[in-house]
Amino acid sequence: MKYSRVKSAFVSGFEVKTILVEVDINSRSTQQVFKIVGMPNTAILESQKRVFSAIRNSGFNFPNGNVTVNLAPSNLKKQGTHFDLPISVGILLASKQINFDIDDYYIFGEIGLNGEIRGIPGITLLLLELAQKEKNAKFIIPKENEEEALFLEENNEVYVISHLSEIIYIFDNEKKEKYKAAPGEKFYEENEEQIDFSDIKGQYFAKRAAEIAAAGFHNLLMKGSPGSGKTMIARRIPTILPEMTREEIIESTKIYSIYGYLNKIIRKRPFRAPHHSASTASIIGGGSDSKPGEISLAHNGVLFLDEFPEFRTDVIEALRQPLEDGIVTISRAKVVATYPAKFMLVAAQNPCPCGYYGDPEHECTCSINQIINYNRKISGPISDRIDIKITVPRVKIDELLNDFSEESSEAIKERVERASKIQIKRQNKLNGKLTQKEVKKYIKLDEKAEEFLKEGAKAFKMTGRGINRVLKVSRTIADLNDSKYVTVEHVSEAFQYRGEENL
Ligand SMILES: Nc1ncnc2c1ncn2[C@@H]1O[C@H](COP(=O)(O)OP(=O)(O)OP(=O)(O)O)[C@@H](O)[C@H]1O
Ligand SMILES: [Mg+2]
Ligand SMILES: [Zn+2]
Repeated sequence: MKYSRVKSAFVSGFEVKTILVEVDINSRSTQQVFKIVGMPNTAILESQKRVFSAIRNSGFNFPNGNVTVNLAPSNLKKQGTHFDLPISVGILLASKQINFDIDDYYIFGEIGLNGEIRGIPGITLLLLELAQKEKNAKFIIPKENEEEALFLEENNEVYVISHLSEIIYIFDNEKKEKYKAAPGEKFYEENEEQIDFSDIKGQYFAKRAAEIAAAGFHNLLMKGSPGSGKTMIARRIPTILPEMTREEIIESTKIYSIYGYLNKIIRKRPFRAPHHSASTASIIGGGSDSKPGEISLAHNGVLFLDEFPEFRTDVIEALRQPLEDGIVTISRAKVVATYPAKFMLVAAQNPCPCGYYGDPEHECTCSINQIINYNRKISGPISDRIDIKITVPRVKIDELLNDFSEESSEAIKERVERASKIQIKRQNKLNGKLTQKEVKKYIKLDEKAEEFLKEGAKAFKMTGRGINRVLKVSRTIADLNDSKYVTVEHVSEAFQYRGEENL
């Protein structure tokens, strides 16, 4: 009997599904037939073509007779082009052109007509999930994905090949070492532009707000006229956020991997700034292939929405679930995908359509109704989830020109790290993510502070949610001061970040 089975897997949403590639060859048949079953039709035709040519162009023969390939289980909706390699290996095994024990191996890779193996998205996720399920799983993957083997334990052997003909070397004890994945220098490569908080002159109020937002992972809204430096501040927030943990690095890298990046290891907190004209699918996720969107690419980092009121209403509304739960669920054509989306929302906007409302140097040409409508676009439920709202005035020219040296991101980050650790120790999450119940449980005010908050709430006619926001921000300010209790000083500072709630 000429039969073989090869293990493979694919990514569906944020999940890994394993499959078995079975190959059966009936060489008594006089006709040459090559059939693949268990894949969508269009994908089959293309895969057939590539596999047929690749085998012949790699020093092997395509077997005569009736060749049937089955991808089991057949009811799974399979995605991706990376079954080419396991199919080819299966055919070579079934036709006895190679003869190895491949039971422990998972194989992925797209093949070119000439036998070249091409990189594919999703490898990080595939490797990590399968290695977790099977402690001794081994892998054969495209050389182009080599860096993605980085996070695996040492007992998981990963081999990388760049041409189908190399498959024989992996089972050759003398040669196989050369094909073992060895994450190299690419991992350490860094050529990003250097930006730093010290680039920003003055703006001490906005900088302090950014520091508090970073320390408690609070969402932040900045209002200010054109050129006041909102974008400049937003871009620098990732530089003061705590270093990513290993778990965060892995999780973010998985997302970028299934999004389509090869070998992109996310070690720095992401900063994503989609344009307001971007489609809902590109921001939230979805589209025909249910890919993760910008909000998931921003996971563990900053999602910057500049000119916030200009975003589509359905985009703004779709932010509610992720802001609440840190995940996003996308359903489309029976495929339901859930992706992580725990980001810090940094929104910026002008105070009015013309941009100059409240600016002492320019006249605002908007009507009062225009101003109100513009600010109303951010609905209650979204506004409720933004703890810190500030106005950013334009910096004065002599402040801009002085050569006083401003505090560096490194110095601010140190305080942020310290305050974050206190929060994790106390409640295992950051203040910005506390639920209403947790606010009650973890935020303790001293007596005077309690009194002060009550008076303030009355004077400002604050809602329950508004009070919760002030409480959370006060707690972060107290944590920055390493104070067990929240005091009047902390609460009164927190009041300054409420924004003009009624406009
Ligand atoms: N405090 C500051 N220190 C140094 N440079 C500044 C400061 N504020 C503004 N600038 C300069 O002004 C430019 C414009 O700032 P930025 O783009 O951040 O403004 P903005 O508030 O985002 O404006 P817009 O509403 O037009 O988007 C910056 O690139 C920077 O060169
Ligand atoms: Mg801007
Ligand atoms: Zn205006």
